[in-house]
Amino acid sequence: MSDAWKRLAAEKAVEDVRPGMKLGIGTGSTAEHFVRALGARVREGLDVTGVPTSERTHQLASEEGIRLSTLDEMPELDLTVDGADEIDPEMRLIKGGGGALLREKIVAAASKQMIVIADESKLVDVLGRFPLPIEVVPFGLGATTLAVRDCLSGLGLSGQLTIRGGDEHPFVTDGGHFILDAELGRIPDADALADKLVAIPGVVEHGLFIGLAAKAYVAGADGVRTIVASR
Ligand code: A5P
Repeated sequence: MSDAWKRLAAEKAVEDVRPGMKLGIGTGSTAEHFVRALGARVREGLDVTGVPTSERTHQLASEEGIRLSTLDEMPELDLTVDGADEIDPEMRLIKGGGGALLREKIVAAASKQMIVIADESKLVDVLGRFPLPIEVVPFGLGATTLAVRDCLSGLGLSGQLTIRGGDEHPFVTDGGHFILDAELGRIPDADALADKLVAIPGVVEHGLFIGLAAKAYVAGADGVRTIVASR
């Protein structure tokens, strides 16, 4: 059912796309529904240009016949549509389950508006049930992991930190980095954690998206709900 809901949310977001828009295109299974629905509109004559947030999305969007560009050629975008792993009532997000958080955040920050598309299982009262992805450079991994641990305990947080893919064959992001997944359970002060994590040398980005999305289309048994940020 969840996949059908993801598709409904994605199709709703396509209605917000206007001719001539410069679009950030997200990554993940929900974003893939968006790419397919957008591709169908493009084949009917809708003229848009997209900036994909991952190599995976680049490939799918090309196959769908969507004209693509880069943030170097189009540094300001009208709209980004992307999925999320968690959405809290203030529209703070956890993203990066698919490993594309860095490009996703750069693209969202370059956009006038970000719309999140999701099924209702992604709605939470407090972020943190989904492991928080933290993108780190491979050099100095041990020291960076220690610094992340210290940062977490300084905020009263604890939980397992694991290298995605395992030590033997770590998952490598499109930017050539590794991902540390932090199983925190609850993140009562996501704003403070976000600020502290980016200050650690070796941390490239983290999956807390704060102040980036203003609207979400969330699909469930009752159809698609539009949710707007409460702050
Ligand atoms: C990709 O890195 C992620 O941020 C995805 O947007 C997020 O994991 C949501 O994925 P699904 O749409 O597959 O649930």
